[in-house]
Amino acid sequence: MTVTVLGLETSCDETAAAVVTSDGDVLSDVVRSQVAIHAPYGGVVPEVAARDHAVALPEIVTRALASANRELRDVDGIAVTNRPGLAGALLVGLLTAKGLAWGAGKPLIGVDHLVGHLLAVFLRREGATPPPAFPFVALLVSGGHTAIYRVDGSRLDDIQELGATRDDAAGEAFDKVAKLLGLGYPGGPVVDRLAARGIASRAPVTLPRPMAGRAGFEMSFSGIKSAVARHVERNGVPEGDALEDLCAAFQETVVEVLVSKTLGATKAEGLGRIVLGGGVAANRGLRKRMTEAAATRGIEVFIPPLASCTDNAAMIAYTGALSLARGETSPLDLTPSTKTALLRVTRKGGGRR
Ligand code: KG4
Ligand code: ZN
Repeated sequence: MTVTVLGLETSCDETAAAVVTSDGDVLSDVVRSQVAIHAPYGGVVPEVAARDHAVALPEIVTRALASANRELRDVDGIAVTNRPGLAGALLVGLLTAKGLAWGAGKPLIGVDHLVGHLLAVFLRREGATPPPAFPFVALLVSGGHTAIYRVDGSRLDDIQELGATRDDAAGEAFDKVAKLLGLGYPGGPVVDRLAARGIASRAPVTLPRPMAGRAGFEMSFSGIKSAVARHVERNGVPEGDALEDLCAAFQETVVEVLVSKTLGATKAEGLGRIVLGGGVAANRGLRKRMTEAAATRGIEVFIPPLASCTDNAAMIAYTGALSLARGETSPLDLTPSTKTALLRVTRKGGGRR
């Protein structure tokens, strides 16, 4: 049976609401980014994010229902991201969803944001290509998360972390390097643009390839960022060609780590499909290198349209709709958590292991 769900997403700096069916049809998808609000601080300020969600969310929900041509009474349930994310930001979405569910007498479905990202490839929207069959390996790369998963199905228990970053997320590294180079926030898109014009081998700095020689699928990005920081401390911020070359070298190094670890995990699992997700999946270097490297090994790569990669509520509504179709709902005393419900195998931080 097909169900239709209203989804809410406020885990970080996007206020979003969407109406999606359990078949993946996106009836509406409204996203309001807070990027301009956080840009002066060079990163997301949690308290500011929560307050802005509280101001913006009612209007975003109203718009999502209106553009789906639905009333609240027409949907079968209310899905909401309840983990992981910023505690205050999550609370705004969660309490709003509880109010809507209670008021309309609809079931509430708590969704793990990371599961939403991993299933976003199934959303049927403009630009979407036919989705993969299970099982597949997924590389989730955003400003907050960088991890590789084996995905056998859409339930929590079907998803297994194979490796993750031990320190910074890949997007975080792009943002920090952009800040060091005076390129503003968020850093990914501008570094991507400059890198396309630069030549990595011409950059006057050698960047480390952390975890490259190690078995396993853990990653690390803070050392790459620190090497750029040391170079800038000693030589100042480069300009012109030198800036483009430095961006190219940084991006190439990050991409190489992501591609080699993802391919390694895919081989180890004996699978033939890779799915990309998260905002960094917009990176042209990553898309190109992953597609080329996978093709030579006979592995298929699935890259969802950008609107499905960056934070959105459609992936939350869809994940919630699948749960609801299975009869799984959440109690009205559902709590938020800053941590994912997925089992983690990677320990954050350095040190011996
Ligand atoms: O998934 P997302 O929209 O939000 C979360 O972090 O959850 O991802 C945003 C991140 C930022 O760190 C941003 O710099 C990065 O994705 N990003 C990129 C590109 N576009 C966005 N990184 C590299 N290249 C890009 N073209
Ligand atoms: Zn996200």
